[in-house]
Amino acid sequence: MGKLVVVDHPLIKHKITIMRDKKTGPKEFRELLKEITLLIAYEATRKVPVYKKEVETPLTTTAGYYFDDNNIVIVPILRAGLGMADGILELLPNASVGHIGIYRDPETLQAIEYYAKLPRLNENSIIFVTDPMLATGVSAIKAIDIIKQNGGKEITLISLIAAPEGVKALQEAHPCVDIYTAALDERLNDHGYIIPGLGDAGDRLYRTK
Ligand code: URA
Repeated sequence: MGKLVVVDHPLIKHKITIMRDKKTGPKEFRELLKEITLLIAYEATRKVPVYKKEVETPLTTTAGYYFDDNNIVIVPILRAGLGMADGILELLPNASVGHIGIYRDPETLQAIEYYAKLPRLNENSIIFVTDPMLATGVSAIKAIDIIKQNGGKEITLISLIAAPEGVKALQEAHPCVDIYTAALDERLNDHGYIIPGLGDAGDRLYRTK
């Protein structure tokens, strides 16, 4: 079974509280999303291998450790996941980025893929899927289905806020996926929004409402 890690550092708690506040505007919201993602990614990237190569200091030679970020792939789920991908790219500038667009059919409630562009994946790819709100889990499950169909195996979902319902659904559908999140909230409401949550992350990021 994959891990569920709630990275509840005081700095993250502080920043997420400002993001929840309905008075926080899009500029600050975007900045905070990026900052929190960086802090979560610091924990989530512990699994990335390092390779050893000596380094010459001004005084001597010593063992050096370099992050092997050649096989890292970041996959934002459009559109709100984009704001998080930028945060991880600051930490891992050599990562490849794939994009997956999913919408929910209002009649059937099925997740429908409308866009997918992924770099070449294999079993060595270390994949970080970003989606700020793990609500019902439908989009994340579908995105991970697509990634697996394309050869991805080592997959971590990074979210900002997760609902217990979404965590359960994702763990049932994809038991080997690790989930990193900054907060585990109470529940979903009847419209699939996370309570207390922060509202619609995409609308708040891109000011579409
Ligand atoms: N997507 C959001 O943006 N917010 C929620 O609360 C749930 C899904």
